Amino acid sequence: MEAMKMQEQGINVLKLNTGNPASFGFGLPKSIENALNQHIQDGVGYCDFKGMPKARTAICEYEKTKGIKEITPDDVFIGNGVSEVVSFALMPLLNDGDEVLVPSPSYSLWGNSVYLAGGKPVFYTCDEKAGWYPDIQDIRSKITPRTKAMVIINPNNPTGVLYSKEILMELTKVAREAGLLIFADEIYDRLVMDGLIHTSLASLAEDLPIITLNGLSKSHCLCGYRCGWMVISGPRHLTEDYRQGIIQLTSMRLCANTLAQIVIPAALEDMETPASMVRPGGRIYEQREATVRKLEKINGISFVKNNSAFYIFPKLDVKKFNITNDKQFAHDLLYATNILLVPGSGFDWSEPDHFRIVMLPEAHMLGDAVRRMGEFLDGYKQK
Ligand SMILES: Cc1ncc(COP(=O)(O)O)c(C=O)c1O
Repeated sequence: MEAMKMQEQGINVLKLNTGNPASFGFGLPKSIENALNQHIQDGVGYCDFKGMPKARTAICEYEKTKGIKEITPDDVFIGNGVSEVVSFALMPLLNDGDEVLVPSPSYSLWGNSVYLAGGKPVFYTCDEKAGWYPDIQDIRSKITPRTKAMVIINPNNPTGVLYSKEILMELTKVAREAGLLIFADEIYDRLVMDGLIHTSLASLAEDLPIITLNGLSKSHCLCGYRCGWMVISGPRHLTEDYRQGIIQLTSMRLCANTLAQIVIPAALEDMETPASMVRPGGRIYEQREATVRKLEKINGISFVKNNSAFYIFPKLDVKKFNITNDKQFAHDLLYATNILLVPGSGFDWSEPDHFRIVMLPEAHMLGDAVRRMGEFLDGYKQK
């Protein structure tokens, strides 16, 4: 709100608050433009409520290359972005008061969607000291007879951290023992850096009911097209009732936007677009490097360097800066520097000691912005 008012007054606000690549010059990939031009006529009518067959086949093939076995295009449901998919993915599962384990910190879509579906999010800690990996002990301690599911966001937003195969195996063990459904949000799976490889959670546990979510908003910079999907994997007898619920919900809204679906086969063939952004010399890689170089110089800030996505979640020395309210910190920073950030509390993080930087502007702009943050913090004391 404040930032909008400032913009209305003609102030140029640097918006490091939303993960929208198109706002920072990430253009339409050629592969997508060609696919649209070629197939524009194919999307005029409603399509199958699950999604266009060619798109579902392409998604199924993609998820199989990630090691998810025994799935067919019939297990794929396409929606208007992962956001819409999450909103219908939770509904068939939850009765009033049922609990869902949700990471803290995490993108607030998940916690809020659990509430909207009548459930209660129970936040488990991702431990900064352990490189932001989920704290297995904490998860175990929060399971109750009402716990129905566990959400795993890998790589995570806002930490930008990719999970190892070992920690994913431990998470599947907990879910198996407690009989939980897993929601695996893998929207950043193609934006992994430093030679690391993303493991799809569903590839590690064929015996568990797992809902894998993914889309094109980030990997192909297509946030505005609204293109996301879910894939149901695991033993049919464990997923059948859930699947029927999803069929009812998705058929009620007829179908997802077809123009976005037309480009799915081409996008999933075009792995060069995401790969070119995250290798040395690529924008996302270089923007991270520029950010981190400057963050390292700020007294009173520590951080885990992200290895994925375009987010970093630095920690503030709250004693040094006398910070008790992270929203106030974000306000103060905005007024002093015209830089807009989301404080940690926007990610279901309970301490006032973190904020997220979206590293989408060009490297020189980010470097300059973080330098200005450093100047602001030099001598800052919250009142
Ligand atoms: C972890 C995570 N899941 C889902 C979404 C929503 O993506 P979509 O644009 O597909 O709705 C986002 C968007 O930032 C996200 O960070």
